[in-house]
Order: sequence, then C-alpha cells, then structure tokens
Amino acid sequence: MAKIGDIDVGDFPLLLAPMEDVSDPPFRALCKEQGADVVYTEFISSEGLIRDAAKSTMKLDIYEKERPVGIQIFGANLESMLQSVEIVEKSGPDIIDINFGCPVKKVVSKGAGAGILKDVDLMVSLTEAMVKHTKLPVTVKTRLGWDHDSIKILEVAERLQDVGCKAISIHGRTRAQMYKGEANWQPIAEVKNNPRMHIPVFGNGDVDTPERALEMRDKYGLDGAMIGRASIGYPWFFREVKHYFETGKHLAPPTLQERVGAARRHLQMAIDWKGEKLGVFETRRHYTNYFKGIPHFKEFRMKMVTSDDAANVFAAFDEVEKEFIGYEFTRE
Ligand SMILES: Cc1cc2nc3c(=O)[nH]c(=O)nc-3n(C[C@H](O)[C@H](O)[C@H](O)COP(=O)(O)O)c2cc1C
Repeated sequence: MAKIGDIDVGDFPLLLAPMEDVSDPPFRALCKEQGADVVYTEFISSEGLIRDAAKSTMKLDIYEKERPVGIQIFGANLESMLQSVEIVEKSGPDIIDINFGCPVKKVVSKGAGAGILKDVDLMVSLTEAMVKHTKLPVTVKTRLGWDHDSIKILEVAERLQDVGCKAISIHGRTRAQMYKGEANWQPIAEVKNNPRMHIPVFGNGDVDTPERALEMRDKYGLDGAMIGRASIGYPWFFREVKHYFETGKHLAPPTLQERVGAARRHLQMAIDWKGEKLGVFETRRHYTNYFKGIPHFKEFRMKMVTSDDAANVFAAFDEVEKEFIGYEFTRE
C-alpha cells in the first residue's frame, strides 16, 4: 500500500500527470471517475502566483470530488516558492508538488523546472525549506538528470527523501532528451531498489498500454505509475489499466454513448468553471481523441472545434450520437 505522507493512495496507484492546459478541474474530474488515484494540477508559476495573475490563481481551483489532489508549482527563488506555498495552501490541496522536470527553455533558463537539475544542492535546499514551511506533504516530480552524462537520480532521490520529500515521480528521460526516444525506466528501478529509500517512487514516461503499466509494477517494481499523454482525451485509460491488472484481460473500449457523454460533461464542466468562451475553447483539444477511430469524422470534428458557441458544439455531439450509434470501436 503506497502512502504519500498520511494519505493512503492504494496499491500501485495510477497518478494523473500534471499537464499544462490539460490537467484542469474538468479533465481531472473525468480521470478521477475513471480510476485515477491521485491527480495533479498543471504547473503553476510561483512568481505568477505572487503577482496574483488571474490565470495562475484560477489554476488553483480544486473540487472535493477529485481528492487527493496535488497542486504543482515551479520556480527557483526560495522566497517566491515559500510565499507561493502559503497561497497554494489556501486552496486546500492534499499535496504540494514541486516541478523539477519541465524542460522548456523559458522555464529552464530561469533555473526552474529541469534547470535545477544542474544545481542539486539548490534543489535539495528548496525542497527542505518548502517541507519546513507547510504541514502538507511535499512531493517532487523530476527527470533522470540534465543529460546523459549527468544522471544523478539515485543521489538526488535519497537527498530529497532525507529532507522530508514524501514521494518522488520520475520521468525516465533527461532534460536533453525532451520528449524524444524512449523513456528509460531502469534508473527509476534503481532508485526504488536502493535499500535506503522508503518513500514511494512513481514511474513516468510512455505508459501507454495496460501492459506497459503492468511492466512498471512487476518488472521494474515501482510503487505506482504516473500517466500523462495516454489519458489526453481518453480518461478511460485508467479504468482499462485497472481492469487489466485485475483480470489479465482488456476491457472493451468505451462505447460511442460513453464518449459523447464524456465530451458533453467535459464541456459543461469547463463552461461552469470558466465561462462559455474559455470553456468551449479549452475543451477542443480533447475531442480528436474522444472520437478517434471513427472514419470520415472530419466534418463533425470541424463543427466541434470551429464554433465559439457552446450550443453548436452540443448540437454537434447530438449529431455524432445519431450518426454513429452502434459504431464498434476497436483497441488501437
Ligand atoms: C501537454 C503536456 C503538458 C505538460 N505539462 C507539464 C506540467 O505542467 N508539469 C509537469 O511536471 N510535467 C508536464 N508535462 C510532462 C508530463 O507530466 C509527463 O512527465 C510526460 O508527458 C511523460 O509522461 P507520458 O509519457 O505519460 O505522457 C507535460 C506533458 C504534456 C504532454
């Protein structure tokens, strides 16, 4: 049974990865319903939070039904990180997660995200200060190292644990790899097998089938799997993995009605949360995957993604339901 601080997250939990512009409250709610055991917000800039930028504070919204939920923050300045911990606490998350893995230039160039992998002492001292500054469990998400020649994840994980980090999620790539190549889970297994490690070690990167998730559990012996891209527009991935773990068999893909139902609820939750304009706009990216596999779908997809008017998008869902009722989806 894995525990993040005092929070029981079950046996081999599945975690929804923090994803910018994806892991928002409506999407997290859908993933939770489909079996995600822990969900994370997209990353939130500590500097942005302090400036009280409306966009950043909206990212702090969380709902009871999605617990346990972790709010992820990034930054490299101690004062800002500590201040942002205080702001984040007011939203009542269960976990505070620090992003030490984001590879994008604008983050890394400020020494934040994966940029901090070049300064492990700073990474450890920031984590320690944050742990001391809050009663909430602090977790870390990071990568294997800066580049192939500087993989120090074994040492990093141990030191983070020693200063009170309550769980670590490791993406099996270096910063230099960005998203290229295959994620390497071997160094993550080495972290887990270190007899000094007692906090949960979650694996991340390329878990895109139930078989891969099982491999992460049984072959690599990790404590849970953090899932990102495989869930985008496909929240059912979580239940498919769980079903496979329980039965060794693949669950049938969601029916058309389930897909249309999810699209409707996703859009409605987004509108309730952000208003019609933003709700309609921000839900668009998910539709391609919701309806993936249906032939000659372009005409319908265009209707969903080109109108600013929610009524038109809902009407497109109705049309899809009528047109493709009974369509049999197959596993990819
Ligand atoms: C669209 C997108 C946005 C992401 N945003 C974040 C983020 O805000 N914070 C973070 O720690 N990682 C972020 N990531 C990285 C993912 O959390 C994850 O580490 C990565 O996608 C590898 O996992 P996967 O192969 O399951 O997708 C993002 C990834 C994607 C695809």
